[in-house]
Amino acid sequence: MKRWRISELLGQEGQALLNKEIEVKGWVRAFRSNRFIQLNDGSCMASIQAVVDFEKFDEALLKRVNTAAALSLTGVLVASQGTGQAIELQVSAIEILGDAHPDDVQRTVMQPKRHSLEFLREQAHLRFRTNTFGAVFRLRHAVAYAIHKFFNDRGFYYLHTPIITGSDAEGAGEMFRVTTLDAKNPPLDESGAVDYAKDFFGKAVNLTVSGQLEAELAALALGQVYTFGPTFRAENSNTSRHLAEFWMIEPEVAFNDLKDNMDLTEDFLKYICGYVLENCAEDLKFLNDRDQQEQTQKPQHERSQLSLIDRLKFVTENPFKRLTYTEAIEVLKNSNHYKKKKFQYDVEWGIDLQSEHERYLVEKEFNCPVILTDYPAKIKAFYMRLNDDQKTVAAMDVLFPGIGEIVGGSQREERYDILHKKCEEFGIHPQELWWYMDTRKFGTVPHAGFGLGFERMVMFVTGMTNIRDVIPFPRTPQNAEF
Ligand code: 4AD
Ligand code: MG
Repeated sequence: MKRWRISELLGQEGQALLNKEIEVKGWVRAFRSNRFIQLNDGSCMASIQAVVDFEKFDEALLKRVNTAAALSLTGVLVASQGTGQAIELQVSAIEILGDAHPDDVQRTVMQPKRHSLEFLREQAHLRFRTNTFGAVFRLRHAVAYAIHKFFNDRGFYYLHTPIITGSDAEGAGEMFRVTTLDAKNPPLDESGAVDYAKDFFGKAVNLTVSGQLEAELAALALGQVYTFGPTFRAENSNTSRHLAEFWMIEPEVAFNDLKDNMDLTEDFLKYICGYVLENCAEDLKFLNDRDQQEQTQKPQHERSQLSLIDRLKFVTENPFKRLTYTEAIEVLKNSNHYKKKKFQYDVEWGIDLQSEHERYLVEKEFNCPVILTDYPAKIKAFYMRLNDDQKTVAAMDVLFPGIGEIVGGSQREERYDILHKKCEEFGIHPQELWWYMDTRKFGTVPHAGFGLGFERMVMFVTGMTNIRDVIPFPRTPQNAEF
């Protein structure tokens, strides 16, 4: 018999199946009064109600219908007599596919009560079975799909850039070394240093921090490409917004300048929010209610004025505020917050903005997503295009309420001589990047791109406030379980 998914039964298809015999498979969420089984198969938030006439079943079999047991249920789908569900299943056969051991259930997330997110992180193998994480991971999928759809519909090509890389020129963060050398007894060169010439690739290599440099190579022939892959940063920062392994989307477009780049970013972020509003109503409603409960736990001044759903609508309906880094410094210096010395870090042209500064701009001053542009050259990567003032570069960061920096990007330096000079200033050997430099010799053109931190986007659309709760198995300092 065909296995129906619960989302199908509760949706349009279910109506056509009324009074017919069907089969469903899933995990028991609850079994009340020896009569009502709530069965969930992950296809949607809702469970199906299955009604059991206990006199018709063996007592020993019903004893095994515990929370978390896996069942196959056969029966006739009928309009429900009770409230709370439109349809229900009148069970004629129960098959136990997998038992749930009652004693073990006590120590896991399967115990039917509200668990802390911290506890659920330690039980990441089982947390998928909770309503919250079911919703989060269905939404994570929807966001990934929306991203591919957005770019495909606009004629971008999905490019797979290498995960193991020999260039560490990006300067985006500390890297993880990849080696097959014997850690206890590595070969040494004449100076006593580890001799990576004898390593697997004949040189030292690392896990990539970004696919950008390779994406640029492809964009300068294919026109517009994007990457969507894992990236790795060995920063020892234990914050709620950093992972050592995270996913990044990096579009790169030939002939685009910084203004085009900002327009693309804004369209892209609006599209993702619009997509989930349109396609993920059930999960969003659940997370919206969850978020509102969480907000009441926070001190007044940290509460969001808007509900989760209204925050997403706000992004789709309002233009992002665009201003330069120099203007932002002025805004910060003129703020009462600054005058009352409420910032921990000082504000001065040339500083790298701290997250307290970014949050002030987004959450207090403008109350909307902000795009900051034209940062001092010294605090940004070597590849960003030098502006005519010779001091700033055509960089852009997008800042989101509650998240901070969600996107970082720039117009790229396409002029060979200037790029060469920038390499030297940043202590990068242009010979090591000969392939990158080459593209500036053969038909170089203005081009631009950006990187969206996938998990930070998923945080925004789910309302989850810790990045460890939007990736299935987070990798952070001292933590690589599962
Ligand atoms: O600003 P970043 O470092 O930019 C780049 O890597 C460029 N190569 C992008 C480009 O222009 N193609 O990182 C981009 C985004 C950040 O804005 C942030 O959202 C996310 O990646 N990100 C992290 N997310 C989770 N954990 C971390 N440790 C992250 N570091 C950056
Ligand atoms: Mg950045």
